[in-house]
Amino acid sequence: MPNTPSTPLDPLQKTYLRFDQLDFSTDQAFANVASELSALAERELRDVDNSEELERYRIKWLGRKDSVVSRITDNWLKPAPAELKKHIGAALNMLRFNLDQDLGNRKLDIQQLDLDPELDLSLPGIERAIGTRHLIRQTYDELLRIFTAIGFSVVAGPEIETPYYNFEALNIPEHHPARDNMDTFYIAGARGGHLLRTHTSPMQIRTMEKQKPPVRIVVPGKVYRRDNPDATHGYMFHQIEGLAVDTDITFCDFKGTVDYFAREFLGPKTKTRLRPSYFPFTEPSAEVDATCHVCGGSGCRVCKQSGWIELFGAGMVNPAVYGFVGYDPEKYSGFAFGMGVDRLAMMKYGVTEVPLLFQNDVRFLKQFP
Ligand code: PHE
Repeated sequence: MPNTPSTPLDPLQKTYLRFDQLDFSTDQAFANVASELSALAERELRDVDNSEELERYRIKWLGRKDSVVSRITDNWLKPAPAELKKHIGAALNMLRFNLDQDLGNRKLDIQQLDLDPELDLSLPGIERAIGTRHLIRQTYDELLRIFTAIGFSVVAGPEIETPYYNFEALNIPEHHPARDNMDTFYIAGARGGHLLRTHTSPMQIRTMEKQKPPVRIVVPGKVYRRDNPDATHGYMFHQIEGLAVDTDITFCDFKGTVDYFAREFLGPKTKTRLRPSYFPFTEPSAEVDATCHVCGGSGCRVCKQSGWIELFGAGMVNPAVYGFVGYDPEKYSGFAFGMGVDRLAMMKYGVTEVPLLFQNDVRFLKQFP
């Protein structure tokens, strides 16, 4: 084996040379080469994963003839003077010990692996329950299907908002009484003042700021109010906002969309009515009612004998809002609505307690496969 001084020999190459051709100037030198060889062997062993490869490995490192260990014995140990034999012998023993140990361990691993083919693949597998979508998720999916089918697209926005988007730009100035019923969670110390959004309506503003009409969006998301938890309230609930703005959108388009929604969601016989209401960001505003999906309008326990159930708040976009987003109120018109998804789900599926929706009791969840 050529020994050019410029390229240092790797430890395997060294075993081909006689001890006096190597620079074994210190006693420690043999131990160093031996541990380099141990490390190399260990790395090589990681790629060995069946018994034939293991046998080849054994022959290469520990075999009787022309193995690493035999070459060290023949080239270093035997010809060395007595005082060096001691050191070479110690290094060789260390290397052989490591090789034996690692080889034995790997052999056990491989025997384990070899057992695997006895695995009976015809046995039935373990069935894992994959669960179902939560009732709220199912309701969202249905609402989104209904609105995307008529050209609305879906957008999402931040749950932590600024007062500007949650109130001001929606035509709710500071000290306006409409802020009172929205018992807001303010985030203490936040720079510029932040709050948990009390409705999904801020996304009306964020969307109109970013794009010119036509706008047709629905916004699913969580909203937060400082309500005391009871059968019909929590501190968080789910909404879906809707907004349509274009050059020729009329009250008829609004009513037609509401009717379409009610029929899709509650059944083809459903009728709707609008009751006057008030929201600062819509004018006129309305509460949308539908004929009761249980009794069809004749009166029952679900609709408290009235024949009607309340669906959501809505209205024509207040022209004052267009001023905040740079739309020309002479040119554009539109409508908006905001639905309580939890309410709609409870009503449709006969759930009477809000906490049931969030306790994740499997006995409850299983009823909505
Ligand atoms: N944001 C209103 C609420 O949370 C609902 C609403 C949305 C009303 C859009 C009109 C138009 O009560």
